[in-house]
Amino acid sequence: MRRKIIAGNWKMYKSPAETREFGEELKQLYKTPPKDYEICIFPTYLCIDSLVESWKGLEGFHVGAQNCHWANMGAYTGEISAAMLVDVQADHVLIGHSERRQYQKETHQELQAKVMAALGFDLQVVYCCGEMLDDRQADKHFDVVTRQLDEVLGKLHPRALPNLIVAYEPVWAIGTGVTATPAQAQEMHAFIRRHLKKILGSKAERTPILYGGSVKQNNALSLFSMGDIDGALIGGASLQAGDFWAIAQAMSQALS
Ligand code: PGA
Repeated sequence: MRRKIIAGNWKMYKSPAETREFGEELKQLYKTPPKDYEICIFPTYLCIDSLVESWKGLEGFHVGAQNCHWANMGAYTGEISAAMLVDVQADHVLIGHSERRQYQKETHQELQAKVMAALGFDLQVVYCCGEMLDDRQADKHFDVVTRQLDEVLGKLHPRALPNLIVAYEPVWAIGTGVTATPAQAQEMHAFIRRHLKKILGSKAERTPILYGGSVKQNNALSLFSMGDIDGALIGGASLQAGDFWAIAQAMSQALS
């Protein structure tokens, strides 16, 4: 069976104090750590430490960063390296989120270098891909995602696979309240899985593929019931511990 993952992307929300509060609240909600899936929260860099502290020693609870630089160190004002993330005990990193592609104009070449840097430090990479609304309307969504996979992951060695997670996040579904239907998401996830196997070999069958884009308590179960959806990358609905927990419960339900 593939690993299942429920992840929260906090974007530019929450202070260290609010982060600690969330960490404690979520611990309270879990009487015992989840056995059949993992949890990962991606707070701002400033709050990684607070969450790591709060969850110290808890199995299945992970903390990640929303980005990293491709260099290990250097004259890059305002940047943070993969080495530094490991130092503060983050174990995951998001690469290629559509907001960074859009606002920071991250290119495929940069993303590829970031993925390599993160893998070099044994981080779990959550590589985000997904088409814009125009692409889907023009029936180009498979082409766009193919390019995003080829140009960034195409040169990876298959031995990197245990550290790779893919998140399919159609841009038109992020923060809009519009979710891809379970059928639309499943269709793309199955496509991504086939394509990953083509470029990285048969072991890519085991690569978790998460869905992201307006995942909420009321749509999580129908998404998680799809054969190729291995979890979620949740934005807005990950900010409250109760909401996040409720979505995670849907994963337990889908697996039972
Ligand atoms: P959303 O964000 O759940 O608020 O749509 C998802 C994401 O950007 O990862």
